[in-house]
Amino acid sequence: MDEFIYVVAATFSVLSILWYIKYSLGKRTPPLPPGPRGIPILGYLPFIGRSNNLFPKLTELGHKFGPIFKLNLGRKLCVVINSPSLAKEIVRTKDAVFSNRDASVANLAASYNASDVVFSETNSRWATMRKVFVREMMSTASLEASNELRANVVGKAVDYVRAHSGKPVKIGELTFRTELDVIMNMLWGGTIEGVKGEIIAAEFFSVVSKIIDLLGKLNVSDFFPVLARFDFQGVKREMEGYVKCVDRIFDDVIAQHEKKLSCGEIIKKQGKKDFLQILLELQNNQDCGHISISHTQIKAIMMDIVAGGTDTSAITVEWAMAELMLNLTVMSKAQKELSDVVGWGEDGRRIPHPEIEISRSSC
Ligand code: HEM
Repeated sequence: MDEFIYVVAATFSVLSILWYIKYSLGKRTPPLPPGPRGIPILGYLPFIGRSNNLFPKLTELGHKFGPIFKLNLGRKLCVVINSPSLAKEIVRTKDAVFSNRDASVANLAASYNASDVVFSETNSRWATMRKVFVREMMSTASLEASNELRANVVGKAVDYVRAHSGKPVKIGELTFRTELDVIMNMLWGGTIEGVKGEIIAAEFFSVVSKIIDLLGKLNVSDFFPVLARFDFQGVKREMEGYVKCVDRIFDDVIAQHEKKLSCGEIIKKQGKKDFLQILLELQNNQDCGHISISHTQIKAIMMDIVAGGTDTSAITVEWAMAELMLNLTVMSKAQKELSDVVGWGEDGRRIPHPEIEISRSSC
């Protein structure tokens, strides 16, 4: 009898160990990177400070935990990457794995509910829009066609800086305006001229800046999705207000463009088409097997380009200038390169160089 009990006990123990190994191996997930401890339910939220700007805190945590760390913010587990090589790995090398990231409440409101390229899931609709964007707007032919326009707009910004020599210049704001000017021109060309065009540009500048600020605001609805319907901080409501304003401008511009197109007032030569013209032609493309996009998708892509192409470039230039001011050796190298490659006229003005590409997006 004793022997029987030993056999049963041994069999039971072996089976338990096998079951445990199988169960725990089956459930095993890759280890998470290190990160600061939070408290139950709220995670690390109470420790990120009262400021709406998360980035200084993330930089501080990066110094402690290294180039990749995890952070629990409410119900969301966030993984923060903090080095150029990791950024490359995620947005380029393993792009397909990481591209379906969560869009925030503000992102969704600003992107016509992810009808755009940036926040759409990676599906065939996204692939179509991306193809249109890359092939038509960012193609060499399209960029070359707008080279002169970009040189003129950037030249105006350089003149502004020269006129304010010795005085402080808000370089971020200047670059933002310059980039917006370039982008509006590439998008819908010179179709809105005169005072109306200027009013639209001023209105656009003010609303787009607010949209971008709001996109970066910490929103409790993002960390506790069950609370999203209450929109406690009013982020969704505020964003919808701004989007309505931009939407009105887009509709106005599209209507004017369509009218001019139908009257044959806009040049239809290949390579000289502006991006909106190309999008409108695709909208009317009913042939089977050809790319066709909707009116909402057109506006969503326009929003991507305006919001994604302005602040990003402005911040990059602002940082580059700040770094140059802190590093005078690099600054004088850059100045030498400019005078060797671009040159200066007798009056001290920059000589326009036809072969120099002034502004090319990194995307
Ligand atoms: C210094 C300037 C810029 C920076 C730092 C920047 C940064 C980025 C980043 C980090 C992404 C996300 C990549 C990913 O999730 O895989 C992105 C995507 C995108 N950017 Fe930019 N960008 C810049 C300029 C521009 C400009 C000028 C435009 C438009 C004219 C633009 C339009 C887009 C679009 C449409 C996407 C979505 C691409 C996709 O989902 O495939 N960006 N950008």
